[in-house]
Amino acid sequence: MDTIIGTDIDLAIQFLNKGELVAIPTETVYGLAANALNPDAVIKIYEVKKRPRFNPLIVHFFSFDECHAYVTDLPESALKLAEVFSPGPLSFLLPKSDKIPDIITAGSDHVVVRIPDHPIAQSLLEKLNFPLAAPSANPFGYISPVTAQHVYDGLKGEIPYILDGGKCKVGLESTIVGFSGDDIIIHRLGGISVEDIKKVTGKNTLLSLLHKQPKTPGQLKSHYAPDTMMLQGNVDELIQKNKGKRIAVISFQKEYKNCERCYVLSQGGDLHEAASNLFKTLRELDKLEMDLLLVEKFPEIGIGMAINDRLSRAVMQ
Ligand code: TXA
Ligand code: MG
Repeated sequence: MDTIIGTDIDLAIQFLNKGELVAIPTETVYGLAANALNPDAVIKIYEVKKRPRFNPLIVHFFSFDECHAYVTDLPESALKLAEVFSPGPLSFLLPKSDKIPDIITAGSDHVVVRIPDHPIAQSLLEKLNFPLAAPSANPFGYISPVTAQHVYDGLKGEIPYILDGGKCKVGLESTIVGFSGDDIIIHRLGGISVEDIKKVTGKNTLLSLLHKQPKTPGQLKSHYAPDTMMLQGNVDELIQKNKGKRIAVISFQKEYKNCERCYVLSQGGDLHEAASNLFKTLRELDKLEMDLLLVEKFPEIGIGMAINDRLSRAVMQ
């Protein structure tokens, strides 16, 4: 199959209507989309990504109002969060209605819904008469794509069309929140910070990360992994310990000298800028075939928590 990269929304709609897959831009990362209400189309997502069937998919809607018919309960905190952060990089784990096929949720009675904040995704969803199931558009286990070219590098020949919406501005996946009694459960750290979620809801937040709980169908350990060996910690010490090796460093602000390459993610110390550069940088460094990638630990505040989460998983090969 030829894979075309383009900006033709109507062509994308034609493929989706036929039950084909289309990669779409969102503000977080590119998604590999199919008609969420067509199980035969959804199965293709698992096949193309080589993703285990027990790992469920996020469903994307044009607006939060539109998802109401697909869930059976909307806690007050979900409504508050949606009012402030939808559309945006926040996804909601909610009890599903019968309209969501079981293949989407891998048999679970809860579904994750999300309203992407990207003009192309928005106009696509507005024109379609079904929501879109879409995981990140990378082969299972590799780094999520933040450009159309990244999608092409991983999935060429497997899908007919990639809608090009430029570089994703957030650059990390959405935060996933769930609701348990009076608590907000953070299932995945991402584009919306824990601090902001607390501020808006005024509720207690608990971290219950999907990938750390094998019983929940969530991310497996070796997600976001480049092929190059990677270590996180005190970079100066790690450089000393690994003398003689070809080393590349990813740092927040500091320029390291005793290494072959150093990629600074944000000279001005802006965590959002660092997040948006992270996956692109990991991919670039992976291509250099260095002996070792060293990364700093980022400040554990705001989106810095999500950066550390992704890096810690990239380190676990
Ligand atoms: O930013 C994002 O959320 C991107 C863009 C494309 O929207 N999507 C994304 O999807 O990151 P994916 O499939 O790569 O990651 C979704 C995570 C997976 O770890 C999956 O296991 C979990 O959410 N998930 C989805 N539905 C779930 C459910 N019903 N119950 C538990 N976990 C769920
Ligand atoms: Mg993913």
